[in-house]
Amino acid sequence: MIDTEMPNYLKFPQTESEERTRELDRLNELAVRDGWLNAVKQTYDSIDYMTSPVRYKFLDLLPLNKESTILEIGAQHGQITTALARRVGFVHALEVVPQFARFAAERCRQEGLDNAKVACGVDDCQLPFEDGQFNGVVLNLVLEWCGQRDPSTPHVESQKKLLRECWRVLKPGGWIYLTTKNRYGMVLLHGVHDPHTFNWRFGQAMPRWLISLLGRLLGKSRPEGMIHSYPTLHRLVTEAGFSNLKPYWAVPDTSYRSPTEIVPADAESIRAARKRPDFKHGSYTKAEVMFKLTPAPLVKYLTSSLTFFAEKPA
Ligand SMILES: C[S@@+](CC[C@H](N)C(=O)[O-])C[C@H]1O[C@@H](n2cnc3c(N)ncnc32)[C@H](O)[C@@H]1O
Repeated sequence: MIDTEMPNYLKFPQTESEERTRELDRLNELAVRDGWLNAVKQTYDSIDYMTSPVRYKFLDLLPLNKESTILEIGAQHGQITTALARRVGFVHALEVVPQFARFAAERCRQEGLDNAKVACGVDDCQLPFEDGQFNGVVLNLVLEWCGQRDPSTPHVESQKKLLRECWRVLKPGGWIYLTTKNRYGMVLLHGVHDPHTFNWRFGQAMPRWLISLLGRLLGKSRPEGMIHSYPTLHRLVTEAGFSNLKPYWAVPDTSYRSPTEIVPADAESIRAARKRPDFKHGSYTKAEVMFKLTPAPLVKYLTSSLTFFAEKPA
């Protein structure tokens, strides 16, 4: 069910299955009846992704204060939105799935956060805001999926458009915090199934021509999203107009969605972090060993997630 009071900027039809839509509608009914947390507990086997404070640990790195107006893209269950709203003046959150947008808004309401406004949209990677409104944009684990609803536009063009849009809506001197997955990240190089490439092992770590050949032979449509290498993502962010790019590394690497810490990914910072006895490179032995053997200047090319903090010049 779509909330008719919520701004809706969607341009393309929904792609969720009927079963998924029913599940999310039920989630929203439970949220209103039993509270958002009980709804999540009744719906999912594991709730850490939507509730654990490690999910928003990266907010500690950001220049947030009660004067900031922040845009979050990809609010999902509101796990980052609510944490952001507690730290800043105002949060505008956008989400492509109407049921998630509704849930995130209800979660904010139940937590008494009236400084967050959730809207539905950005399936066309166009932001429904005037130029120069925001102090910061948070794009956490969304860029890889963002062009999925617009089948006529190549993924990378949708991603470029979204990055340019983020730049446009930032005030001069504003910043973006961007995390996405790494095409040559340790998890994919270890042969983990890639959700962006039909759940194939190695997925987008394979050459693009091979993915497209195998896809054609197996009668697949285009892959679900697109991920890049460190140099390509660096270039995309720079071409969108951002400068002062600072890479970060969420560790333990293979638990990058729920990191215990986020360290700068430059060689000097990695060498310093490695000297600490409690520093954990990876969450399983193979990853720990491989990263320990990787020279510090090369680590940023192999991290499972790629994170950049970057600025719009003042
Ligand atoms: C992997 S989840 C990440 C959720 C949240 N940002 C976090 O880090 O916990 C990606 C979310 O982005 C949403 N999404 C994907 N493409 C989007 C787009 N173009 N605009 C807004 N949201 C989008 C998905 O529906 C999903 O809720």
